[in-house]
Amino acid sequence: MLHDATLTTDRLAGTHTSLDALHRASTDRSIAIRNVSKIFKTRQGPIQALSAVNLEVREGEFVSVIGPSGCGKSTLMMLLAGLDRASSGSIMIGGKTIDGPNADIGVVFQQDALLEWRSALSNVLLQAEIRKLEPKAARARAEELLKMVGLEAFHEAMPHELSGGMRQRVSICRALLHNPPLLVMDEPFGALDALTRDQLQVDLLRLWSNRAMTVVFITHSIAEAVFLSDRIVVMSPRPGKIETIIDVELPRPRRLAVRDTPAYAHYVQAVTDIFKTLGVLKEDEA
Ligand SMILES: Nc1ncnc2c1ncn2[C@@H]1O[C@H](COP(=O)(O)OP(=O)(O)O)[C@@H](O)[C@H]1O
Ligand SMILES: [Mg+2]
Repeated sequence: MLHDATLTTDRLAGTHTSLDALHRASTDRSIAIRNVSKIFKTRQGPIQALSAVNLEVREGEFVSVIGPSGCGKSTLMMLLAGLDRASSGSIMIGGKTIDGPNADIGVVFQQDALLEWRSALSNVLLQAEIRKLEPKAARARAEELLKMVGLEAFHEAMPHELSGGMRQRVSICRALLHNPPLLVMDEPFGALDALTRDQLQVDLLRLWSNRAMTVVFITHSIAEAVFLSDRIVVMSPRPGKIETIIDVELPRPRRLAVRDTPAYAHYVQAVTDIFKTLGVLKEDEA
């Protein structure tokens, strides 16, 4: 969605938009989810995926949403991206109600959607082509992003020459090229091995560290949610409701070693206990 009339005119006229203009156009990065419910009508009858979800996310905040499979996490993300409509309630981003596809935001899914016939750099620059961004500035930004995730030597590599982690880094860079006010990630590291996943978490925190964007990060890893987040939104099984929100007061910048501290263990335990209470996690009676 465009917040700036000059941007709209630029695009209609087919001229290039400067990255600065995009940045100015999207200064408010807060999210307000008010009483959002979602019911899917299926042949088997209605399925309530979300039930009265209320959540405020502050500008520049890193919020994780965690919950069991089928609790409505991806549904929530589709609503945030404006790719589907809530059955009731409203979602505002930057004070504006979402009522259609929200092209401003950056989205990263579990499966990267790289174009196999384009190099890493060219995949990142796809975002600039779609948005008609000024090519020189876009290229500089793409190079800067790839450098921040350690891919400066892989500009010309084709996707099939990259590991899963490298591919996902490229897709994150592509999602961030236009300085989106909001980055929504749906289990982005779910398909990666544990070590690669650790590294991508560190890379992501580096990209976010100036809090220039708000991040909503969907995961079903308790450890990942605790390591990354300012707050963890814990969802209960279907119909997806927010069960609890936990403030994670671990120091930043987060280092991997934080995972060896009692404070970290305390948060992991707290989320685990909630899932036990909900019957999502069950232990054998000893
Ligand atoms: N397009 C759809 N049509 C019908 N049911 C759907 C659709 N999308 C999701 N659902 C249902 O809504 C519930 C929540 O799904 P989803 O948001 O994908 O959960 P999660 O991402 O937490 O695993 C599930 O029961 C799922 O089957
Ligand atoms: Mg999902």
